[in-house]
Formats: sequence, C-alpha cells, structure tokens
Amino acid sequence: MLEKAGAAYRKHLKNSPRAIEYFKKRGVSGEIAKQFGLGYAPEGWRTLASVFPEYDDPLLAESGLVIVNEEDDKRYDRFRDRVMFPIRNVKGECIGFGGRVLGDEKPKYLNSPETPVFSKGRELYGLWEARNALREHGFVLVTEGYMDVIGLAQLGFPNAVATLGTACTTEHVQKLFRFTDSVVFSFDGDAAGRRAARKALDGALPYASDVRSVKFLFLPSEHDPDSYIREHGHEAFARFVRQAVPLSEFLVDSAAEGCDLGTAEGRSKMVSNAGPLWKQLPEGALRKQLLGTIAERAQLGEHDLMELWGLARPEGKPAQRKRKDAESPYKQRAYGAGRRHAIKPKTVAMAEHIARAVLRNSQAWDLLTNDDHHLLCELEAPHGDLFSWIDTRYHEHGGEPWAVLQLGIEGQPFSELAGRLNALDEMQPSGRAHDVEEMGERELRRAITEIHLDAVAEEIRRVGKLPASEPGRVERLYELSRKQQELQERQKPGPNP
Ligand code: UTP
Ligand code: MN
Repeated sequence: MLEKAGAAYRKHLKNSPRAIEYFKKRGVSGEIAKQFGLGYAPEGWRTLASVFPEYDDPLLAESGLVIVNEEDDKRYDRFRDRVMFPIRNVKGECIGFGGRVLGDEKPKYLNSPETPVFSKGRELYGLWEARNALREHGFVLVTEGYMDVIGLAQLGFPNAVATLGTACTTEHVQKLFRFTDSVVFSFDGDAAGRRAARKALDGALPYASDVRSVKFLFLPSEHDPDSYIREHGHEAFARFVRQAVPLSEFLVDSAAEGCDLGTAEGRSKMVSNAGPLWKQLPEGALRKQLLGTIAERAQLGEHDLMELWGLARPEGKPAQRKRKDAESPYKQRAYGAGRRHAIKPKTVAMAEHIARAVLRNSQAWDLLTNDDHHLLCELEAPHGDLFSWIDTRYHEHGGEPWAVLQLGIEGQPFSELAGRLNALDEMQPSGRAHDVEEMGERELRRAITEIHLDAVAEEIRRVGKLPASEPGRVERLYELSRKQQELQERQKPGPNP
C-alpha cells in the first residue's frame, strides 16, 4: 500500500505546477527528485480513494496513510497538500512518508506514525539511497532534516542521511555502523544543536571502538547543512567535514562544559560529568587513552578516577570478595545495561541455529523481517557481530553460499564462531545439513520468535526494576506483556497462519 501511495504521489507531482515550483525554488533538480522518489499529496480529504477503491480497508489506517476519526469513524488522508518524501528501509521498500507544507503553515512536516513497519527511533531517512555512496566516500554524514539529505546529495555529498525528527539513538548508530566505519554528525552551532550533539554522543559511545571513527561537525548557528551548502558551496562544507571534532575531544569538552578547570571545584565537577560518558566506551585503546586525558585535565591519577567512578577499590584497602566485577575494573561490560541483549543459553542455541542456516546460504537472511535482523545484530559479540556482518554483506552482494562467505569471514573476530557452526553441519550424520530448505522457514521463524521472547522477558525484568515513579513505566510494561503474549501465541503448535 505504501509503495502504491508513493507511486501516486510521484504522479501527482508531475501534474502539480505549484509543487514543482516549490522544489525548483529550493533548488532541487529533477534528477534528485527522481532518485529520492519525491512526490506531492494533493489537496482534498480523500484523494487516496482514487488509488484505493476500498478506502475503509483497515490496512490503510494501519499503514498511517489514512486517519480514522475516533468519534464518528470518518476517514481521511493524513497527507494533504504537502510535498512528499518517501522513507525507505535498507531493502529499498517504502515504509513511511514525510510531508512538508509548501508555505509557512504548521506543522511544517508531518511524518508517518509508528506502524508495524516504521519506527522513527530506528530508521534513517536516505540510508537506502546513500548505501553505495557510503562505501565510496568511506563515511556517513548524519543530519537532522529531509531537505539536508536532498541538498547534500545534490551538491556532492550523496553519503548523507537524516534522523526523522528525533534525537539520534544508539539504535541509529548501530545501524549506521553496519554500513560504514566512520560517522560524521552534523549539527547547528547553536544551543539546540549542541544538545542534539550530546544526545548523539550518548548514542555513539557504546559503539566507538578502536576501528571506528565518530566525529561531530558544528555549522554556524543560523545554518543547517542544506542552507549552508547551497549558500557557500561544496568546498566550504567539505572544509567543515575535515575539521569535524573527534568523539574523544567532544567527550572531554562536553564533560568540561560549564566547569572552571582553573579551580579544584570545577575539575571535580568535570570528573563527575566524565564518568558516565567514559564508562560507556567499549574496551580498547581509545578508552585507555581517554582515561589518561581526563586524569591529566583533572590533575588526578588514573587510579583516582577509577576509584571516584566506583570502578576500583581505594588504594591500600584489601579486596572485597563479594563483588567480582569491582575487583577487575576493566572487565566492566562495555555496553550500558540493556543496550545489547545479554545472551542466554536458549538464545545462543537459537541464534546459532539461525546463523548456521544463513551461513549455508545468506539468502535465508531475507526470510527474516527487519525487526528480526535488528534483534540478531544486537546480540552480544561475537554472535551480534557475525549477524551484522552478514546483514551488510547481504545488502551489498545478495545471497551467497558458504564457500564465498568464508573468504570474507577470514580474519574477522567472529571467524572462529562461523567456522565452528559450519563444521557442525558437516558432521551431521548422513550428511544432513541445516540448510534453509532442510530447516524450513517455519523452523527459522520458531527460532527467531524464541529469541524475541527472551529479549522481551529481559526487557520486562529491566523495566520492572525501575522506580514506580519513572514516567511511562506502567505503559511500557503493559505494552511489553502484550508483545509477550502475542509471541507466545505464535509459538503454540498448530497450523501456521
Ligand atoms: P527543521 O525545522 O530544522 O526543518 O526540522 P528543515 O529540515 O530545515 O526543513 P526545511 O529546510 O525548512 O524544509 C528538521 C527535521 O525535524 C522534523 C523533520 O524530520 C525535519 O526534517 N520536523 C520538523 C518534524 O517532524 N515536524 C516539524 O514540524 C518540523
Ligand atoms: Mn532546512
């Protein structure tokens, strides 16, 4: 339905001189409009009825294209008299829309609501369109607006994406790192931009490993990337990209913001700000170096910092036997609680079941949904990393047999896991392989549902532990238990729907 609506919006754009004029005025070329599938939703309350004769179809409401008035059950188009930006998932499928007014009316942008196929906290506008450019340019530019992606793509930065009116989440960051090793966030230089940058920093910290690069670029405060590059051109913007601040520097600056490092009080405040940020970094050389940098700025020793952050016992005191993790500060989990799904024995078994099928032939990856992909990629290393690798690989090369995948897996941190899983297959008696035909789609679904069930149970436990005063806690628990029931329902034996 979303695809069909997108096609209709594109057709309407061709017939609307006003909408064409709007894009022209903003400097959007026909080529870019085509590439991004830009369209126009005409005036009128039910123009989609000409595309969908069965306008009462509940799917139209579920897809977010149609709004149902709760009082009188009347239905009408969500997007009216707006230029339309289709939002595509990493497979290139249309999963939602953004629509902008042509004038100054409010709200300026309308977006599709959260639907079974669309989640703002997860999707990035332009990622599918940018996928090849990400490889060529070697980095992704993360912006805040649809028009930023369009403007940058047109003026020589086809490697740009945008969050969808939300802060950049850790899920966004994780998704981006499936496509590239280098992320450059672009923000306005004003207070709002810096706040947004702080949120992006939080999202990026758990993924800032030694082999990845995360940078922050700040434009003059009156500009966004679209307006800046259109006014000053490609080279001027490229200069900002080159001068982008590395995450390490931004972390230290953020911690020191508002602290007078010339005083002991200011330095102490900086140390307490820095702790929660530093703790989120994965283990590695960057984390170690930053400890040194922060210690130096604070005029303290590294061990003092660890002690202040509750990660080391005070010097000279005997080790307490009770808490194992306190004895070994560096063994702290790299990821914040709940960031990555802790692997439970059942999940491991199921994940390996799925991994085996996908390694046999990565075509099996396509039998799973985006949600499934996401869950698998989020598993702890090495399993999550193996799935992330497969995901990227699948999008770049399509389905491949093990013999080909094997070459790419060599030397990766998860190569041992992959090798072991594949070897298990070969040892099956009578040459029975766990390949996808043999395993069957239904079995694959059962396995992934088990993992979803584990993850939901884990999340219920985590949210359950939050203080009762936490806003939205009850709603979240309710939503989770509904999801749990739905998943359990699916696992019941019986004919597959
Ligand atoms: P901005 O207000 O910065 O707009 O919103 P922009 O991207 O520069 O848009 P133009 O250049 O005026 O066309 C940034 C992003 O925030 C979301 C949209 O995703 C937008 O791209 N947004 C903004 C909304 O969802 N609703 C709004 O009313 C405004
Ligand atoms: Mn703009």
